[in-house]
Amino acid sequence: MGDSTAAKVADLLSQMGLDEKIGQMSQLNGGGGHLPEYLAEAMRAGQVGSVLNEVDVEIVNEMQRICVQESRLGIPLLIGRDVIHGFKTIFPIPLGQAATWDPETVKQGAAISAMEAAAKGVNWTFAPMIDITRDPRWGRIAESLGEDPYLCSQLGVAMVNGFQGDDLSETGSIAACAKHFAGYGAAEGGRDYNTANIPENELRNVHLRPFKAAADAGVASFMSAFCDLNGVPATGNRWLMDQLLRKEWQYDGVVVSDWESIVEMTVHGFTADDEGAAYEAVSAGIDMEMASSSYRDHVENLMAQGKISLQQIDTMVARILTLKFDLGLFDNPYTDPGHFSAPLNRSHLTAAKEAAVKSCVLLKNEQRILPLNKSDTNSVALIGPLADQPYEQLGTWVFDGKAKHSVTVLEGLKELLGSEVTVNFEPGLVSARETSRDGFAAAVTAAEESDAVVMVMGEESFMSGEAHSRANIDLPGIQEQLIDAVAAAGKPIVLVIMAGRPLTLERVVEKVDALLYAWHPGTMGGPAIADLLFGVESPSGKLPVTFPRMVGQVPIYYSHKNTGRPASEETCVRMEDVPLGAPQTSLGMSSFHLDAGFKPLFPFGFGLSYGRFQYVKITTSHHSIALGETIDIFADIINAGAHPAEEVVQLYVRDLVANVTRPVKELKGFRRIFLKPGERQRICFTLHTDELGFFNREMNYVTEPGQFHVWIGGSSDASLWAEFEIHE
Ligand code: NOJ
Repeated sequence: MGDSTAAKVADLLSQMGLDEKIGQMSQLNGGGGHLPEYLAEAMRAGQVGSVLNEVDVEIVNEMQRICVQESRLGIPLLIGRDVIHGFKTIFPIPLGQAATWDPETVKQGAAISAMEAAAKGVNWTFAPMIDITRDPRWGRIAESLGEDPYLCSQLGVAMVNGFQGDDLSETGSIAACAKHFAGYGAAEGGRDYNTANIPENELRNVHLRPFKAAADAGVASFMSAFCDLNGVPATGNRWLMDQLLRKEWQYDGVVVSDWESIVEMTVHGFTADDEGAAYEAVSAGIDMEMASSSYRDHVENLMAQGKISLQQIDTMVARILTLKFDLGLFDNPYTDPGHFSAPLNRSHLTAAKEAAVKSCVLLKNEQRILPLNKSDTNSVALIGPLADQPYEQLGTWVFDGKAKHSVTVLEGLKELLGSEVTVNFEPGLVSARETSRDGFAAAVTAAEESDAVVMVMGEESFMSGEAHSRANIDLPGIQEQLIDAVAAAGKPIVLVIMAGRPLTLERVVEKVDALLYAWHPGTMGGPAIADLLFGVESPSGKLPVTFPRMVGQVPIYYSHKNTGRPASEETCVRMEDVPLGAPQTSLGMSSFHLDAGFKPLFPFGFGLSYGRFQYVKITTSHHSIALGETIDIFADIINAGAHPAEEVVQLYVRDLVANVTRPVKELKGFRRIFLKPGERQRICFTLHTDELGFFNREMNYVTEPGQFHVWIGGSSDASLWAEFEIHE
């Protein structure tokens, strides 16, 4: 906070009564299109610091006017909204954006979303969600940036920068919110809101890293998680919120609770009643209460009892006022929509399409059946329940985008192919959940009568997102049966999946010739997919999360520990190969499942291309470096294919021996490069020894001398490796 802001905040604070301070700490739900009188009255009385879920700009301006002109101290409002992956122009779901491995794309998406939201008076978004999750059953994996702390940190910071711009007070900049602090992504069983038990060492080395990165990048706010973290709900967790966030990290932005997460501490069984919950939340340093009213109802009384000090309250209110000054709200609380470019304009749609192109991951391409060739294709059968579902391609958390603006795969293909190629559209199933086979015959006929078969399947929007977890993550309904039926036509099948999570597709993958994973691709999903299928663009997305073969493998992630008995091809035994009456100790005695092996279906970082990338000649600048020095790691990448294409080059490291066991591989860098056919490029990653550190048993961040392995490749399965040493 600048000195002048600090002085203004102090001046304002000195004029405020306790009820006005508590008012600033209260965030109320808006009327969603009208201004209820009780809300207007509370604003006049200075009892509201923030409103969420009002995006009618005239009402927002009226609310600001009431606060500024009719309340005693004229303090403007924070206007919050879940702008998660777009406002009017919907970008791919965050997990899809993570598959771009492209911070610039992610930043641009956030900047456009901020601009469109700001035009409605919104000045605060509850994003990015940077919970590390390794459980695809959890519906909110769709909102996440995947399983890896490094990738999530890079992309989370890009999103923060996109939302907030260079200066929060600029037109089109809005405050971002790092959520959900902390551990929410580790909900037991992938069931939303469930308990998270995470040892402190793992918390620091994995789950907290993106939050630290966001704090360092200047994210304006944090949101406390709903969950119970190691026995103490995050919202009342003093160790997490005060000791770590405020004291250790020196974070001085606003912390907002999640929706009613303060009063839910009583439901958790952590507090006896709302008063106790308010006490715990204030004690932890939750500056603002979202939706519930325990601060309004109990803080005064808690102060009268001497349980809460005025100094605590002043510190919290000061953080909220500081954000309002930083956003420039005291200078101009109003929004003039005329100052903004139109939502859904051509450049926004182009950016959404490019993001969707980069987010799609090609997981299989047998016989290089893709890209399809327009000149030797007279007709395409387009089959599947998601080929023409404008709403379902948008994905979860879409409050403001409209299905009518979506361009579906059917529309995208027709537009791209024009009159030269006939698109024979037969959905086969009316929805992803449909259980009637009535449409199958027509779909099979379409396949028989066409030169190429494209099927678009997956999950509807509601099947992922908050409170939308699944225990079975197979392709829903009878979609797999539709694939079987269509396969009888004898044509190669190109399958496009739209989904909010990794699905378990082992059987399905066997049945199709190509598989393009499109997540929920947003408004411009259709044209993006059409361009990819017909080779206008080459797929370049990479998985931000491991794909299990079966749900029972979960959690399965690339940066696991080695264990004392790691599985290998030699030690892993398949159930069907075990002789009858086999003795207990005959089965390899290593860490695998008898019925699933030890490998995922597709590893983290994986994704094919129409280019053919070869990685050769890894070298390091030194064999040994001292603590505090840097090392360069080089490799050559060649595009040996016939298509120009982008590739995401990835750098992984393993610290062989340490004070606490380290993962078998950890992502430490990545870069998107473009190579023409035949082109070769030397890539150099530079690592400082600080980047090779970790939190040790004493919870200190250290880099230990010793041996390191390093890999450069196109996925976490990279095999091209070298080694180096760090000495004292
Ligand atoms: C609850 C969700 O957990 C959080 O992510 C969201 O921002 C709030 N509701 C507000 O809608």
